[in-house]
Amino acid sequence: MTEPAAQLGPSAGLDWWQTGVVYQIYPRSFADANGDGIGDLAGITEHLDHLAGKPDSLGVDAIWLSPFYPSPDHDFGYDISDYLGVDPKYGSLDDFERLVDACHRRGLKVVIDLVLNHSSSDHPWFQASRASRSGLYADWYIWRDAPGRTLTGRQRPPNNWRSWFGGSAWTWDEPRGQFYHHTFLPQQPDLNWRNPAVREALLGVVQTWLDRGVDGFRMDVFNVFFKDAQLRSNPRRIGRRGAWSWQRHLHDRNQPELHDVLRDLRSIVDTRPGRMTVGELFDGMLADAAQLIAPRHLVFDFTLIGLPWSAASFARTLAARDAVFGPERWPANVLSNHDQPRHASRFTPPGRVHAGLTVADGRAKVAAAMLLTLRGTPFLYYGEEIGLRNLSIPNGQALDPPARRAGFLFPWWNRDQARGPMPWDGGPGAGFSSGRPWLPVGPDAAQRNVAAEASDAASILATYRRLLRLRRSNEALISGSQELLARGAAGVLAYIRRAGSDAAFVALNFGSGRARIDVPVASPGRAWRVAFSTTERVIGDEVAGATSLAPLEALVTTLA
Ligand code: GLC
Ligand code: CA
Repeated sequence: MTEPAAQLGPSAGLDWWQTGVVYQIYPRSFADANGDGIGDLAGITEHLDHLAGKPDSLGVDAIWLSPFYPSPDHDFGYDISDYLGVDPKYGSLDDFERLVDACHRRGLKVVIDLVLNHSSSDHPWFQASRASRSGLYADWYIWRDAPGRTLTGRQRPPNNWRSWFGGSAWTWDEPRGQFYHHTFLPQQPDLNWRNPAVREALLGVVQTWLDRGVDGFRMDVFNVFFKDAQLRSNPRRIGRRGAWSWQRHLHDRNQPELHDVLRDLRSIVDTRPGRMTVGELFDGMLADAAQLIAPRHLVFDFTLIGLPWSAASFARTLAARDAVFGPERWPANVLSNHDQPRHASRFTPPGRVHAGLTVADGRAKVAAAMLLTLRGTPFLYYGEEIGLRNLSIPNGQALDPPARRAGFLFPWWNRDQARGPMPWDGGPGAGFSSGRPWLPVGPDAAQRNVAAEASDAASILATYRRLLRLRRSNEALISGSQELLARGAAGVLAYIRRAGSDAAFVALNFGSGRARIDVPVASPGRAWRVAFSTTERVIGDEVAGATSLAPLEALVTTLA
């Protein structure tokens, strides 16, 4: 399925979504322009200087907006009740156009989130579908009769499929007298992609947003669009805690029909040069991701996002991914997003949440150096550039719906904790809102905020800015091949990136002691010179033979 020729070679042959860096914005939490406590599109437009267009901007190339469509917010926007609108709490279509224009003026691309596996149960399509078994919309969702009753006299669901958000994937609908299927909440019924009318409507949504000028789409849980045509039950297996893992998910995702739809989708997107898609692989493995990567279509495989702070595990996982992807497939690299614990918190040593700030910030800088120098497109999650931590909100106080359903059979990490308001300054509401933010600002917002870090040359923000600048200026870091190195010292992740006569040697000390490493031999007549370090090394100094990395040092050298 891949077209190697389109994806290899110097960056002249690459597209922005390969050479660039994407920044994910969770609109609810980025910036609130009208003081109602909820972030909005106008707030994003006001803060674009932070991202691009000014000498001290972060220097990213694209933003990805999590959903801003009309939604009753059972899953904070991932339950859409109008695919073509903007929810009034985020602004209007005019605000959206203003945002896109403002982005394009400063060279920023705009990627929007499309949630096409399911709609909101408030969507008029679902309302019409549940109202009648024979109407125009009858077959727009996945409806089935009950095959009988349970011992307790309740309607028995059509098969054993589970919802990712806990419980059965089937909900009995009294008005229609049938079950409907939902991979997520009952308020998120799955659309029936086997119905040509549904397919046409959803591809029409893609077309409309392309016409409105967006540069790409992040496709929510795209590998779930198709389920087994016969709705066969999944085979059971011995799992871990949580009923989801007690079956092999053979029939409720990754069906071959998906390829067909992806082809249709791409034929629409491909009519506009420079547009792209990135699919969120739902609960899948590297091999699934490799299957689904296509020209101008990236896949989030999420292999890096779950790893502990260990050079060995990153080395192992990167090697496994390189082996499966080969040199053609272009990876998407992610350490944090709106569904997972923030990596600055994940990587904080246990028991050192407060005391270990230096260590934790040091790790965040090493992680940044890794994310921005690995082969592939880096996706940053708002706030990670200042080392933002998880909020601490127990499930009992959660707004995140699955967290409110959590229990022994359904363990769940409250995602509110990764969705905290962006702290812009040390003022009230952290400069996020003049009102009461929908989630509390973090307890460290007075120190950990954009303004404070902007004026500190040793901050995490300054580190991201330097790394992004270096990345832009170095062909090997943008488009180069990647060779993982075993360089002796345990606790060090090292690799070389090469493109033509450019090369970069990266050594990341995950440990809190010094580590001595061998430096690879440079090409004849050239030397490895320091291009970036988290320590006091002098930029431009030669590094040869062996060098001693400081605790938590990230070192990038380039050939000169
Ligand atoms: C994706 C989204 C997540 C959402 C789910 C259902 O995994 O990233 O936030 O809850 O899909 O739409
Ligand atoms: Ca607002």
